[in-house]
Formats: sequence, C-alpha cells, structure tokens
Amino acid sequence: MDDALKLNRDTARELLNRFGSPLYVYDEEILRTRCQQMRHLLQYSGFHPCYSAKANSNVELLKIIHEEGFHADAMSPTEIALDLEAGFLPEEITFYSNNIPQSEMLEAVRKNIHLCLDSLDQLDAYGEIAPHTAAAVRINPGIGAGHNQKVITGGQTKFGISLDELAEIHTIAEKHDLIIEGLCMHVGSLFLEPTVYLKASEILFHTAMQFHDLKFLDLGGGFGVPYHGEARLDLTAMGSQLDQLIQSFVQTYGRTIEIRTEPGRYVSAECCQLLGTVTARKHNGPVTYIGTDIGFNVLMRPVLYDSYHEIVGYSDSTKREVSTVVGDICESGDILGNERNLPVLQRGDLIGVMNAGAYGYSMCSNYNGRLRPAEVLLSNGTVRLIRHRDTIESMLIQ
Ligand code: LLP
Repeated sequence: MDDALKLNRDTARELLNRFGSPLYVYDEEILRTRCQQMRHLLQYSGFHPCYSAKANSNVELLKIIHEEGFHADAMSPTEIALDLEAGFLPEEITFYSNNIPQSEMLEAVRKNIHLCLDSLDQLDAYGEIAPHTAAAVRINPGIGAGHNQKVITGGQTKFGISLDELAEIHTIAEKHDLIIEGLCMHVGSLFLEPTVYLKASEILFHTAMQFHDLKFLDLGGGFGVPYHGEARLDLTAMGSQLDQLIQSFVQTYGRTIEIRTEPGRYVSAECCQLLGTVTARKHNGPVTYIGTDIGFNVLMRPVLYDSYHEIVGYSDSTKREVSTVVGDICESGDILGNERNLPVLQRGDLIGVMNAGAYGYSMCSNYNGRLRPAEVLLSNGTVRLIRHRDTIESMLIQ
C-alpha cells in the first residue's frame, strides 16, 4: 500500500478546487515503475507484455504505457481506436474478442489487427470473413483464479475453448485455410499467489505441442496488487519459475516463439487516487454515515464485487470514529466502505480512495444522470487535465 499514490491534504484540496470533485488523479512515475517491473518479469528474450486496455484506457496513460515498450490488447473497436490513437501500431494490438459479430472482425482485419477468437463458432465465423489468414485462439485451461467468482475465467465459465475440443480447432482452421498463430489464456483477475497461473501456463505449453505454426503464446493477465495490506505478488520469484517453464517448452517445441502476458490491473491500479468531497454526515440507528460525491457510478468495484479500497479521510479533527462511507446514488447498496476507522469527517472535508486506477474510470457510468469525473495526471511536479468531466450539455445529445 506504501507503493500506491497517496496525496497529502493540501494537494488534494488544491486539485479539487482547480478541477472539481470527484476527481481521478494519476501519478506518471508510479505508472512507469509498474510498467518497468512488468517489462522485466522474464529474462526470456522473446517476452512481450501487452497492456490490457480494459483496466484503464485513458489515451494519455496509454501513450506512457506504449512508451514503456508495451504492446496492447483490446476488447472492442473502441479500445482498438484508443490504442491506435495512443500510438500503438496495428501489429502491436491484439483484438481479444468475446462473442463479437463478424462486422467487428472485419473492421479489425481491415486495420491489419490480428484477433484472438474465443470459441470454435467464433473461429468459424472469422474463417468465413478472413480465409487464408492467421489468427489466435483462446484456450480454457480448466482452472482459474481471481478475487471474485465474477472475474475467474478459467474452468466452468463462458470463456475459451476447452481442452477436449482442440481437434476441432484444426478442422475449422483447415476448412478456411487459417494458420493458428497463437494460443492465449487468461485464468482470471487478481491473484497474489501464482500457483494457478503457473499450473495453467504449464497446461498451455503442453497444449501448444499440438500446434506447429505458433508465433506466440499469451499467458494472460491477472497479476494482483495489494488493496488491503496483503504482501505484494513476488514478481521475481514468479518470473524465474515462468522462465524455467518457457526454457523447457522451447526445447521441446524445437524453436523460440514470442511469449506474452496481458496485465491490466498491475500496470494502472496503484498510480491513482480518487478524490471526493464529504457532502453530509448522519446517524441512522447505530451507524454513522459519511455521505460523499463518490457514488458507485464513479467507482463500481465495492458494490459489484464487495471489493475493498482503502479510504483516506482528510479532516482537521484529531478524533477518529467508525463510519460507513456512502455515495450519492439512489440505492441502499451505494456503499464505498463499510465500518471504516476514519478521522471524524464533516461536510466539506475530503476523502481519497486508494488504488483506483484499474477498473475505476473504465467502469464509470452516468447512472442517476451523474457526470463522470475529470482525470488529471501528475508528472514531475506538474498537473494536467487528461479528460474533461462530462457536462450536462453532453448528456442531452442523444
Ligand atoms: N486479458 C483478458 C483476456 C482479460 O479478460 C483481462 C481482464 C485481462 C487480460 C487483464 O486482467 P488484469 O491483469 O487486469 O487482472 N472489473 C474487474 C476485473 C475484470 C477483469 C476482466 N478481464 C475488477 O474491477 O476487479
């Protein structure tokens, strides 16, 4: 947690005075540090990390991530457009699709962007519109990991092609004269202990022996960050275990191929603090509620997954109390933090939500007609606006 962005009270107040509340604040140095750690995960020279833009697709952040030597994945034509806008070349982007129409496949092919197909049927659909080309497929290794059932993707889920359907991949590829150039997997999001990831990687290496034209293997993302004081994921230990697996795979496969990972959260979570303002306090029964302008339209993770984000209270008070921090959305579930030990907060005080840089802004909505906040970037003592707050005018355009 010490490694995550935590602003002091004066800076927080200055930023909100200048850019309005609530506000997503990012720190360039922390973002670059996380990128560099991921770049050095493996010794293997054919290693390439691809940033998973779904975690945070702000173009200014994408530019930095590209500068740090990442390639990218995209989940949609919009994410492809954002990756391109940030400077990623078409050959540096993979469209990691899930249940998409052929029109989207065609759009990507026309831009020279390669796809990873998520089912036999999608591979067949792709072959119909782009025969005689190369594509990757997503394998479901049968095991998964993640912070919540909703984000575990390996095992019994909608994702990937199961291991007992491998023969049919070859049949469909032959039918459309496709080269299977890559195998991908993603076991799920947020593990701090790498056993499942390593096991699934072994399964992927084993599976790869049945595909002779591979250019790459993509081991997926999921690298966790500590939201609640847990020990950090040991990237060095994990990397050296992966390097060993890769070495023995390359020997058996008979040649080197590119190895990719697809981190999202690890890259962008910790460089961001979400700032907000206390708008009311009240006692309902035994509970003290601190009302703020950070509703679940601004940060959805606590409501959707019961996720924990540390909340910092910026107050003059030296007294502390246990309070429940809530937002301004008209639902009882709109709780940012339950029973937190915080300084006594009054109307006008500020709060900061830690580790908000991944799946924060990218999952924002306009629910209740609320405006999505602005985003700013701190770099070398300067601050600049990297996304405007929504306006009511922009909401009136249908
Ligand atoms: N690759 C694929 C195919 C994915 O589906 C994902 C995330 C990633 C890579 C990046 O995973 P990461 O390294 O960020 O864990 N909204 C949830 C997380 C959903 C993750 C979806 N897929 C949350 O806020 O925790």
